[in-house]
Amino acid sequence: MTESITITDNRSGESLEIPIVNGGVAAADWSKLLPGVWFYDPGFMSTAACESSITYLDGEAGILRYRGYPIEQLAAESTYLEVAYLLLNGELPNASEFDEWKHEITYHTFIHENVRKRFLDGFHYDAHPMGMLVSAVAALSTFYSDAKDIFDEESRHKQVTRLIAKMPTLAAAAHRFSVGMPFVYPDNSLDFAGNFLSMMWKVAEPRFEADPVLTRALDILFILHADHEQNCSTSAMRVVGSSHSDPYSATAAAAAALYGPRHGGANEAVIRMLSEIGTLDDVAPFIAGVKSGSHQRLQGFGHRVYKSYDPRAKIIKKIADEVFEVTGKNPLLDIALKLEEIALSDDYFISRKLYPNVDFYSGLIYQAMGFPLSMFPVLFAIPRTAGWLAHWQELLDQDSRIARPRQLYIGHDVRNYVPLGSR
Ligand code: CMC
Repeated sequence: MTESITITDNRSGESLEIPIVNGGVAAADWSKLLPGVWFYDPGFMSTAACESSITYLDGEAGILRYRGYPIEQLAAESTYLEVAYLLLNGELPNASEFDEWKHEITYHTFIHENVRKRFLDGFHYDAHPMGMLVSAVAALSTFYSDAKDIFDEESRHKQVTRLIAKMPTLAAAAHRFSVGMPFVYPDNSLDFAGNFLSMMWKVAEPRFEADPVLTRALDILFILHADHEQNCSTSAMRVVGSSHSDPYSATAAAAAALYGPRHGGANEAVIRMLSEIGTLDDVAPFIAGVKSGSHQRLQGFGHRVYKSYDPRAKIIKKIADEVFEVTGKNPLLDIALKLEEIALSDDYFISRKLYPNVDFYSGLIYQAMGFPLSMFPVLFAIPRTAGWLAHWQELLDQDSRIARPRQLYIGHDVRNYVPLGSR
């Protein structure tokens, strides 16, 4: 079988054979035959915007791998920091590489006092923590002037380390501000997830140590959220990065994309939906409303790429049981289970291949652990920073061109300006 396609321009009768490479055909070849004729692909439904060797995803089969390693194995055996190293460097670290990486991250967790005292303290008292995080990450670029040296290996590594290390500190600081609690400094004796929980919850105790089940559960959630190839926020990272802006500005853009309810805001929407449903008896009428279009969509269901059960959702469903052993069961769990059961046996959802996605159960865990709903997108941004930065590095190493799509213009033809008094 020939791995190629042939296109014919029916206006001229000319044809061109284009090879299929890695599952794609080069648009540059297409342009040779059809200059000025653009692919019309809103939402990038059929467009591969780059080549990448970071994450493999097969949405039909429900497969997700980071650098070739199945997500199930990483969730069972690895840690978020090890996964972050893997995403950024392409290989798992050996023992001494991992020690060095852990040390670097641990010793970059502090933020400049001005970021907290002047910048974060300037927000309105009820500021959303995700809005604070997006702005604070962008503001970091003004503290590190060397961040602009994006082709200097040493500087690049330093910014990557700073961003991964400071994200939990900024996230917790935003939360503490929004509830009027004093800022908690990082504790370098704790691991990544444990330190974040300490900065979130510490009150007057000399040292805060979270329940190890909860720390591990959070670390697994961080692993599951660390990358997901060319999703909306990662694409934002790549588009902004392609203009060669500094990594803090690009990460702020990615985090802003994550803020939306169709992306990182979906787990918050799930909790609101489950609370609105309220009782088991109301589940079936709610589903009927979703199908008829009179209700909102079923939040936490459906995915652009997965057309089967999201492998992350399967893992999260299991972790939920372990977390609820410690925290007590989230009362919304039964409604979620019922909703899933009804939806998965309903032709509307089956025919559209709509299954639970990563957000369907993660919010229940976060809520049981005590996180307010407004922190849910923030909890997504912390680990996704590793993925964003891995893609940013890959983009720079590929020496790629600035992102600049075309449009199909459908507006007015030329017309003459009419002065205000004559309109
Ligand atoms: N509930 C009910 N119907 C749905 C849903 C849903 N959650 N999702 C898709 N559909 C229907 C949709 O109405 C359409 O039906 P029809 O063909 O009759 O018009 C069909 O399924 C295809 O939907 P689409 O909007 O064309 O699909 P998309 O790939 O553009 O959207 C999505 C993907 C994730 C935005 C969408 O499924 C959705 O809105 N889900 C709910 C929000 C959510 O859970 N988002 C989290 C995504 S995973 C984490 C992340 O990436 O951040």
